[in-house]
Amino acid sequence: MSADLSNIFSEELQSATDLNGLSQLRVKYLGKKGIITAELKALSALAAEERKAAGKRVNDLKSSVEAALDFKEASLKSDSLRSKLLSESIDISLPGKSSGFGRQHPLSRIMSEITDIFVRMGFSIEEGPEVELDRYNFELLNIPKDHPARDMQDTFYVSDEILLRTHTSPVQVRVMQRQKPPLRFIAPGRVYRCDADITHSPMFHQVEGLMVDKDITFSNLKAVLRTFVHQMFGADTAVRFRPSFFPFTEPSVEIDIGCFLCGQAGCRVCKSTGWLEVLGAGMVNPAVLENVGYDPDEYSGFAFGMGIERIAMLKYAIDDIRLFFDNDIKFLKQF
Ligand code: DAH
Repeated sequence: MSADLSNIFSEELQSATDLNGLSQLRVKYLGKKGIITAELKALSALAAEERKAAGKRVNDLKSSVEAALDFKEASLKSDSLRSKLLSESIDISLPGKSSGFGRQHPLSRIMSEITDIFVRMGFSIEEGPEVELDRYNFELLNIPKDHPARDMQDTFYVSDEILLRTHTSPVQVRVMQRQKPPLRFIAPGRVYRCDADITHSPMFHQVEGLMVDKDITFSNLKAVLRTFVHQMFGADTAVRFRPSFFPFTEPSVEIDIGCFLCGQAGCRVCKSTGWLEVLGAGMVNPAVLENVGYDPDEYSGFAFGMGIERIAMLKYAIDDIRLFFDNDIKFLKQF
């Protein structure tokens, strides 16, 4: 009987052509109510002497049925994978999905335009700490204790003697202290002031500049800064040097450029004056030269400082400084 069963199973196995049919076959023979399961149960009814031989036969049959089902299942699975691979095709000539090109932040762009211009004029680049000593940020720059710039409201103090630098000017002092003239460098970097509205940010960027040597005069200051303005804003840009005051320069000037937004006719950005203020500058105060151990009778120099956000806002006609720091992709993509 088992030989018959084995033949019948073989035929049925052959006609099972998919995984579904195969699983039905497995249930039919090996399931709870399966044919072989029933035969195993029937063994208990046999007499002891018959049971041994019959048991071996049924168990052998069960093993070979299991093995045959497993083998067929594996081969059906690999057939179906093969036919899937044959029927599906991948067009390797299709273009890939682009992740999009990045671009420089507008402030980084302005910063590198400025540094490139000064590097072409022979200036090197220096750096200083953002967490600075009061001495460097104020004292050695001839900013006395009672100067309004030292007001608690403007400066982030870490302790009585330590603060977040409020400008890049302390780099002047640090470089002069460790090097002898001739000096010609710029110092770009972050600065901090306790101030926030649509044109002020508590963190912003400046570029400082210093040139010190024998016989440096106000003419040198004018020539270098005029060249800078013409390269940055265009060769036709009008430049005006207006008397001003900074404790670390004497004389001091502020440098205005003709408003390029209205062609100097007067507009909202230049507040109807036709001029835009872009730089502070002056001849290094002899008191500062003395503070760093230079002899003011032997050396002279000029210094300047400018705000990067301000220049970027003018150049791109942006009226809210916070846009630079919001990281709104729609805003940044315009540059
Ligand atoms: N430190 C000044 C400020 O933050 C800017 C400045 C003005 C820098 C004149 C200079 C200078 O070096 O000569 O407002």
